[in-house]
Amino acid sequence: MLRGIVIGALGVIVLGALLAFVGVEAGLVPANADAKPSSLERWAARTSLHATLRREAPAAPNPVPLNDANLEAGIKLYAQNCAVCHGAADGHPSNVASGLYQKAPQLAKDGVEDDPDGVTYWKVTHGIRLTGMPAFAASLTDEQRWQVALFLKNMDKLPPVPERLWKSLKKS
Ligand code: HEC
Repeated sequence: MLRGIVIGALGVIVLGALLAFVGVEAGLVPANADAKPSSLERWAARTSLHATLRREAPAAPNPVPLNDANLEAGIKLYAQNCAVCHGAADGHPSNVASGLYQKAPQLAKDGVEDDPDGVTYWKVTHGIRLTGMPAFAASLTDEQRWQVALFLKNMDKLPPVPERLWKSLKKS
């Protein structure tokens, strides 16, 4: 009886793996970027991202002090590295951003001010797998990644001088 159940269960697993393999090989798993992600894809990506963030994102406050110099450094880094996908202050997506799969949020409209700095720092450092969001650990220093996180946290309440710099950025 037990042997029958084990053999049956193994059979189901092998058949499932075989079907998945044949589906991928036959091109039945969509590879195009000009469609909406399925709800299964969205569920899997979000759930694993949130679980990883709970485990790994630093909970300590931003080590970079909140002042104009650090905010302006964050804005310049954002202009060079992020605006092409996440937009400038006008909130209009670039051609690159319009064609991305998954869509990159246009941060001027759909910002992350509510997220802790450590969460944004983690995303900038490690990127987000299976999306266009790159990992910047190899290209930006630790301080630069915290500066850009500081800017995103305070994007909706910038002091006058950094605010003028941010508003002067054109979409790339
Ligand atoms: C090549 C395009 C691309 C570039 C360049 C890029 N990102 Fe992203 N980013 C994405 C995409 C796509 C997502 C959405 C991922 C998802 O759906 O989970 C994302 C997500 C994010 C998020 C999470 C947004 C949210 O609503 O939770 C943050 C924060 C972020 N990026 C910050 C940055 C910063 C800061 C930079 C520059 C240092 C940057 N990104 C550069 C494509 C990009």
